[in-house]
Amino acid sequence: MPSWLKDAVFYEIYPQSFKDTNEDGIGDINGIIEKLDYIKDLGCNALWINPCYDSPFKDAGYDVRDYKKVAPRYGSNQDLYRLFGEAHNRGIKVLLDLVPGHTSEEHKWFQESKKAEKNEYSNRYVWTNGAFQGIGGHPYIGGEADRDGCYMLNFFKCQPALNYGFLNRTEDWQLPPDHPDCIATREALKDIMRFWLDHGCDGFRVDMADSLVKEDDENKSATGAVWKNIREMMDKDYPEAALVSEWSNPYQSLKSGFHCDFYLDHHGNGYNTLIRDNETPGGDHSFLKKDGHGDIFRFLDDYLPKYDNTKDDGYISFFTCNHDTPRARRTLGYDELKIAYAMFLTLPGVPFIYYGDEIGMRYLEIPTKEGGFARTGSRTPMQWDHSKNMGFSEAPEDILYLPLDPAADAPTVDDQASDENSLYNEVKRLIALRHQYTDLQADGSFEVIFAEKEAFPFVYKRGSLIVAINPSDQEARVSLPESASALFQIGDISLNGKELTMKPQSFVVCK
Ligand code: NOJ
Repeated sequence: MPSWLKDAVFYEIYPQSFKDTNEDGIGDINGIIEKLDYIKDLGCNALWINPCYDSPFKDAGYDVRDYKKVAPRYGSNQDLYRLFGEAHNRGIKVLLDLVPGHTSEEHKWFQESKKAEKNEYSNRYVWTNGAFQGIGGHPYIGGEADRDGCYMLNFFKCQPALNYGFLNRTEDWQLPPDHPDCIATREALKDIMRFWLDHGCDGFRVDMADSLVKEDDENKSATGAVWKNIREMMDKDYPEAALVSEWSNPYQSLKSGFHCDFYLDHHGNGYNTLIRDNETPGGDHSFLKKDGHGDIFRFLDDYLPKYDNTKDDGYISFFTCNHDTPRARRTLGYDELKIAYAMFLTLPGVPFIYYGDEIGMRYLEIPTKEGGFARTGSRTPMQWDHSKNMGFSEAPEDILYLPLDPAADAPTVDDQASDENSLYNEVKRLIALRHQYTDLQADGSFEVIFAEKEAFPFVYKRGSLIVAINPSDQEARVSLPESASALFQIGDISLNGKELTMKPQSFVVCK
């Protein structure tokens, strides 16, 4: 386990939209370098950068055309190597995004694989034996290549599935996971990882990490075996590099070698019940919404068993939102966001902040861009200040990658930095608090000490500290197990020995 993860607070950067330095309207690596001091000042000590590789951008870069080449619109490989160095000089780690399940249809492996003549890459992707032989249960394309077969897709039409084999085989074109050609796919992935790790990257966020071996068993044991093999390489040669999965099943991912797994907004996950219950009929009952009258057990019943059963294997990662989810600001106001982030930053595991969430950037209802669809509204340019294009770019406004928030009160870093009561300054104080107290960090123990159905506050212990949250619009009272005094608070609380009274929308950490 890389030791730095214990105290890591990540900042996710969508490179298209962070900072443009060459006036083409799209963010770039040099822009990220320019803003490293900002990230450090916020308190984040690690970055996850969405795919920045050469790509036709039909899925915003998750359709990789060349894994070892930075997309020219972001700069060059040299720029990225320089980013690693500049980040390290500031004590910041950098994770790249690894896309192991599919490539772009324009990747050179696929160009070879689709040829009629057999070659080294024929089995790099999943193909049936005939153009009229589809793939039951999986999306596929037929009739597009000279090769007499249909190929499987892993996501969009532009993303053919790489071949790691099939565990439960029913057709003769399905290779077993230990077939030399499937092993070759895994080794090619390791080669890509080594390339970036050798150039100074500190690990990877892994896209659709559970999607490798097809017709896997319910425990994803065969996909897990691929990751265990990769983890062996990491432990041996890159012991300080981190692997973070987009899997959202810590029983499977953390036991397969991942150091962290995201607690995503997947259907049925407790995360939704905290901040985005708005899609359930009958009103928004999110626990962290002030009038949601939410039930903390909808979260705890899901999260606690996951935490208890995997805490010795790795970390569950809470996130403010990401490039695939609506920004939390869509349904929560600033005061609600403060309490929500306070919770995410005081739970165990390794937290992630999505760029712009620290100032409460809005989710915008805008047309799709590069395969974003509903996700596009969370990918708009970072709002730095009130200069041209809100400090994002000097380019003419009409060529910006995506439109800026047109609202007169669109939040900016500049405005919020000078306002002590801003969301930005609250986030900064929360991150500083987490760095100060090891009990609040990834490894600190976690124990629920007060939780009652549809009642507030929610109180938990982190090591020797007690954290109490009252997200509601009602006053809440609780008797703590022992006398304590407040060391950090949001909103109004009073503490008399063991008796804690919390005004609406308040948060406290006591000792
Ligand atoms: C998950 C990524 O987060 C998303 O943005 C992408 O479209 C799909 N995987 C496919 O790679």
